[in-house]
Amino acid sequence: MNEYQDILVEKRDDRVGLIRLNRPKAMNALRPLLMDELWDALQAFDADPEVGAIVITGNERAFSAGADIGEMATMDPVKMLGSHLSERWHRIGRIRKPIIAAVSGYCLGGGCELALTCDMIVASETAQFGQPEINIGIMPGAGGTQRLARVLGKYLTMEMVLNDRRLSAQEALQHGLANRVAPVEVYLDEAIKLAASIAARAPVAVQLAKEAVNKAFEMTLEEGLQLEERLFYFLFATEDQKEGMRAFLEKRKPEFKGR
Ligand code: CAA
Repeated sequence: MNEYQDILVEKRDDRVGLIRLNRPKAMNALRPLLMDELWDALQAFDADPEVGAIVITGNERAFSAGADIGEMATMDPVKMLGSHLSERWHRIGRIRKPIIAAVSGYCLGGGCELALTCDMIVASETAQFGQPEINIGIMPGAGGTQRLARVLGKYLTMEMVLNDRRLSAQEALQHGLANRVAPVEVYLDEAIKLAASIAARAPVAVQLAKEAVNKAFEMTLEEGLQLEERLFYFLFATEDQKEGMRAFLEKRKPEFKGR
């Protein structure tokens, strides 16, 4: 594993790859270096057959307070275009393995957009979700208006984006922006437990199922159903399908191999 400056990376025995954003003094502000290291670590876990699911977390005080305002303050549109800032978030969607965001404290701006690129969110009771870009004269630029609207609908998203309305962990849960809420002492353990449970399942089926669910937000129903059908049939070419069904009929636990 590479040496990183802005993140800490741990490959765990339970098939979970853990990535911790590690700029605590800057509330884990997402400067380009951090986003590039995150991408590097995500790709490495995606390619590693000993990893089945990935958890991204910050610290108790902040998952992340967003893109680094210091680095953006002197930018102009041409420099922004050349910086590929938004692409640093969007490419996370190309990771095939499931990614769980374990969120505590501030989850703002690009931090909230990072959580939104993940497949599930486990929040601590102190988590606070928001898109406060309007306060500094801009708007969300890494997926916030689009991904948040798909989760929360138009009206709550408008309030968050136009008027810095923050969501508490309980509100996030109520509106479908979090899978579960746990006390701050255990939220990371809960996220890892969830990731380990998924990582123990048939890896190819998990990855294709993730792809199919995510495509539901991009395709028409007809196209999505077609894709689902093809991926479903494709799984009948895997050894894990044979093993899974045989194990069920023989009343034993399946041993999946990821093939
Ligand atoms: N970028 C750079 N530095 C940041 C930062 C950010 N997004 N958020 C916090 N920091 C830094 C602060 O400047 C401060 O640094 P110093 O100690 O060197 O002064 C340190 O982190 C601690 O922050 P505060 O002293 O402000 O701590 P607080 O507890 O009083 O407030 C906070 C915490 C509410 C998160 C507040 O820092 C804040 O509002 N941060 C900015 C949030 C924001 O506007 N995010 C959107 C960024 S733009 C974006 O993300 C665009 C996009 O869509 C991609």
